[in-house]
Amino acid sequence: MRVLITGGFGCIGAWLTRALLGRNYEVYIYDLREDRRRMQLVMDEAEWSKAQYVPGDITDGAHLVSVCRDLGITHIAHLAALQVPSCRTDPVRGALVNVVGTLNIFETARQLSAQVRNLVYASSAAVYGEPAQYEADRDLDESAPLRPSTHYGAYKVCNEFNARAYYLDHKLPSIGIRPWTVYGVGRDFGMTSEPTKAILAVALGKPYRISYGGWQDFQYAEDVAEAFARCLERPAQEAMVYNLRGVLADMPTFYKLLTEVAPQAADLVSYGERQLPIAYRLSDEHFQRDFGPLLPTPLEVGIRRTLERFRVLHAAGLVTEADLA
Ligand SMILES: NC(=O)c1ccc[n+]([C@@H]2O[C@H](COP(=O)([O-])OP(=O)(O)OC[C@H]3O[C@@H](n4cnc5c(N)ncnc54)[C@H](O)[C@@H]3O)[C@@H](O)[C@H]2O)c1
Repeated sequence: MRVLITGGFGCIGAWLTRALLGRNYEVYIYDLREDRRRMQLVMDEAEWSKAQYVPGDITDGAHLVSVCRDLGITHIAHLAALQVPSCRTDPVRGALVNVVGTLNIFETARQLSAQVRNLVYASSAAVYGEPAQYEADRDLDESAPLRPSTHYGAYKVCNEFNARAYYLDHKLPSIGIRPWTVYGVGRDFGMTSEPTKAILAVALGKPYRISYGGWQDFQYAEDVAEAFARCLERPAQEAMVYNLRGVLADMPTFYKLLTEVAPQAADLVSYGERQLPIAYRLSDEHFQRDFGPLLPTPLEVGIRRTLERFRVLHAAGLVTEADLA
């Protein structure tokens, strides 16, 4: 398998690179600039140096096609995107990268359909809207209505329907995956990066306030990468989209577990009240049926592993207070 990971220097990209190299696949990172910082956080140089870098911008469709053709890419994991804050600040740029950029990926797979055997892309739980818009007493599966409350969520909805159109028009299959709060080392940007920053703050002995509270679905980055890897390994049959499910918890529970793992967190970490505007009771029954079993890492285990790794990285000078910004 020769995989192109767009946005491969991002958080999920670094963890997915680790998962794919661990399976002895060839990995090509397609990203704006060479920045292996998150790779250094997630794995050793002996591992990450095996991943090859190709500079590129997903808004340049012709470049994508020529790179994939020349490298003989057989699988694409499309992760490159602007996150919620960037899309809020500049919705036009957000649409250019997240929607047009994603169309360029699908065009590439369509034009090279004899060569590219599988396309897996990151959607998001942000396709769902405010929790209050949904029935409170049941887990939502993929048939639940999509009511995004952010531009970012709207772009992800658009991508899912464009994926469906590619299948209907061209029989181009694909798999979309909808993570919720991904946490673990390397998670340093985006609306739901604050729990990871709180763990980093504890490792650094610095105060940190998580600006929101409420419920969310905590998904350990290694599990999310494993989900992407499994989808890459099993060619899609049509335009499929899957919810993921990690550990559903409210912020007081996250805080309690953090203070159990590291008692000093009680003096350093605080949190707000605001519920994030995304439904959080999602069912991953279909993912488990098609790609499981994939048991989520327990939250206290994910917190502990993240804290221990941050401590090692801090001692090595690879994370600092600047990473809390
Ligand atoms: N992290 C989460 O909690 C989460 C949750 C739901 C969905 N997702 C989705 O998963 C994917 C990966 O998320 P992440 O947390 O790893 O993101 P990230 O912000 O850590 O990484 C994104 C990467 O994309 C690259 N990129 C941005 N614009 C690009 C462009 N025009 N061309 C090429 N590369 C470009 C960036 O340089 C960066 O390396 C995204 O599509 C995101 O929307 C993430």
